[in-house]
Amino acid sequence: MSHLSTSHLLGIKYLTKADIDLILHTAKSFKEVINRPIKKVPSLRDITIANLFFENSTRTKLSFELAQKRLSADVVNFSASSSSVKKGETLVDTVNNILAMKVDMVVMRHSSPGASVFLSKRIKSKIINAGDGAHEHPTQALLDAFSILESLGSLKGKKITIVGDILHSRVALSNIFLLQKMGAEVKVCGPTTLIPRYINSLGVGVETDLRKALEWCEVANLLRIQLERQDIKFFPSLREYTMLYGLNLELLESLRNKIVIMHPGPINRGVEISSDVADHKQSIILEQVENGVAVRMAVMFLLAGRN
Ligand code: CP
Repeated sequence: MSHLSTSHLLGIKYLTKADIDLILHTAKSFKEVINRPIKKVPSLRDITIANLFFENSTRTKLSFELAQKRLSADVVNFSASSSSVKKGETLVDTVNNILAMKVDMVVMRHSSPGASVFLSKRIKSKIINAGDGAHEHPTQALLDAFSILESLGSLKGKKITIVGDILHSRVALSNIFLLQKMGAEVKVCGPTTLIPRYINSLGVGVETDLRKALEWCEVANLLRIQLERQDIKFFPSLREYTMLYGLNLELLESLRNKIVIMHPGPINRGVEISSDVADHKQSIILEQVENGVAVRMAVMFLLAGRN
């Protein structure tokens, strides 16, 4: 297959296995491009893309912008904190005004789950979801899958444990959808208060003992505690969370198996991951960030119909 089955990237749940294979295969070529002395290709030189960030971001925002520049697209950036949203403008009005300036593709991060699906039904441009509340973060799951492929050679049959605040994590949900579509096995680990009640309906295993969860897997994806999405206390203290669910060097080196360590960022050193584990040779955290540019290039290239 050489075309995506969808005209937007709203979530992993809307992609087929063939779509995911195509994106990951295309990203491989772009990874080669971004490691050349001249890191740029003219593929999207006639396309204008708007990056609409209604919520904070470091990695995703910079990664999309770099990916767009590497593809020679024209780029405009919008940040809600310095825009007329503060004066009461609606999401649809804001976006339609931006599209009136002849924008072809919109990359949007928003704190409301479903914001990009809502927009896709109301505007004509192509939409890429760069994270919508606690719902989905599809390009993060795609770059995570690309990074696992680089480390392990395949996804099928591989065992991945996602540790931490599963309840508030769009990264967890998108990873679960993607890894299962690609034939991997997923387990989640964390305090029961941070594991959603519907988790069993996703076909995912649950383990509350961190050592057991790590000794079961080949890859551990550690997530931060999303205090900004918590209006009640889900555990007694961060200190207790770290004692039970933080990965430190002593635990890592005492495991029976050698695991690959991932984290989508931003990391909270000393909470879910100790500094020496974050910087350990088994950690691929910065490879994930590098792969994010290649994967986002692939997504925009394919959505623009350039393959
Ligand atoms: N992984 C991720 O989405 O990071 P940012 O919030 O910095 O974009």
